[in-house]
Amino acid sequence: MKVTTGARVWQAIVATVWENSQADNQRPMSYSFPADFAWGAATAAYQIEGAVATDGRKPSVWDTFSAQPGRVLNNDTGAVACDHYHRYESDIELMAALGIKHYRFSLSWPRILPEGRGVVNWAGLDFYKRLVDCLLAHNITPHATLFHWDSPQALEDLYGSWRSREIAKDFADYATIVARELGDRIKHWMTINEIYCFTHIGYGVNQVPPHAPGTVVKTVQEVWQTSHHALLAHGMACQALRAASPTPCSVALVDNFVPTIPIAETPDHIAAAQAAFHLHSTNGGIVEPALTGQYSSALLQQLGPDAPHIKDGDLEIIHQPLDAFGFNNYFGVSVRATDKAPGFEFLDFPKSYPKLHMPWLFFSPGSTYWGVRHVSETLNRPDLPIYITENGCAAQDELTESGEVIDIDRILFLQQYLRSAQRAVSEGYPLKGYFVWSLLDNFEWAWGYDRRFGITYIDYATQERLPKASAHWYAECIRQNRVL
Ligand code: FCB
Repeated sequence: MKVTTGARVWQAIVATVWENSQADNQRPMSYSFPADFAWGAATAAYQIEGAVATDGRKPSVWDTFSAQPGRVLNNDTGAVACDHYHRYESDIELMAALGIKHYRFSLSWPRILPEGRGVVNWAGLDFYKRLVDCLLAHNITPHATLFHWDSPQALEDLYGSWRSREIAKDFADYATIVARELGDRIKHWMTINEIYCFTHIGYGVNQVPPHAPGTVVKTVQEVWQTSHHALLAHGMACQALRAASPTPCSVALVDNFVPTIPIAETPDHIAAAQAAFHLHSTNGGIVEPALTGQYSSALLQQLGPDAPHIKDGDLEIIHQPLDAFGFNNYFGVSVRATDKAPGFEFLDFPKSYPKLHMPWLFFSPGSTYWGVRHVSETLNRPDLPIYITENGCAAQDELTESGEVIDIDRILFLQQYLRSAQRAVSEGYPLKGYFVWSLLDNFEWAWGYDRRFGITYIDYATQERLPKASAHWYAECIRQNRVL
């Protein structure tokens, strides 16, 4: 009797589970992406490669900067980093095992041109040929960034790198060489990563700048001039890439403008967020000229004598046609409409506002949707395909006794930002792909190895790689082409 009852209960459970699973199969899958959505992971040369003096590479400004005591937390340097220069094959195998289809990495300018200009270091270039061949063999599409902050020290010594207009020409020559030598294998180029970070944070007025080269300049105008030179370098590199590439290629700029998020999605607050966009941080002076051909007039007015000197023809060079735009997305700032001029107000983050393991990493998933929408609407570039070229967070990852990293904080972060991305896609904005930052824990600039952004944990003593729970979660999102 007991047995029969037990069997009945069991049968009932099986039947319910079966019905539910059938219902699941019939339910439309939530948070799905279009079939051609590009799922990727991102890294940068100085943060992972190591091998800083191998095969003819010469120092970048980050080698010099991190060698100065007190510049980087714990005096960490990128000398070894993730030793990716020697371990790229197994790192690519790991990516393939996770189902990652697109890989964004950067080329080290001083590995290819140790003096920044002139003689090519063929051994350095060969590394990237091997890397790309290995990616292609694993059916992973390479997306190469020409510059992710590691300016050749030689050019810093020669003319102060980004302080001089000369750098734009040297950067374009470098672009010509890589397009000529790697353009048979690489079809997706990104010129420069986050102009703000190596110009406005690399040069400081009356304060020690936390990023390389760490030079203190005298005026705010000089700082704006460095970012103007970087915009020129971007424009000239676009022309150089297209001219030198043996086959048609896609060219993009990568920027980390700060999305302004309306406090509520009502017409007045949305209009306030759009007006405020131009005046937050460097938005109106970096992404805006690059995508529209004009600096924001409101910003220029605000800067007055601090504005960059713009020569005739500069804006045409800067405003090159682009095949795509890369948006590095970490946080946004809230805005509301007010009755007082200028009609909007930036809102401070309250004390208990949630953030991840960086002082600036405020949890603001709405920034993904609003960032995409601002490019299309506020900057009036609905034609421009957008990729989230970086998104991710530092978390205080810990190894459990069973040897896992169960980073549910990172999963929460990625999930909410990806849902916001999916919203943008579902509303018809041209968001075409997403690269998680980062494939590996790595050298996080002024924070050294203290801050872990990877979906893969690195044991720096042994260089062992351990995919975190977020890596397995991300792999499943890729497999199902939706946010889980
Ligand atoms: C971005 C950088 C990247 C990494 C992440 C956390 O600003 O492009 O190299 O440091 O932040």
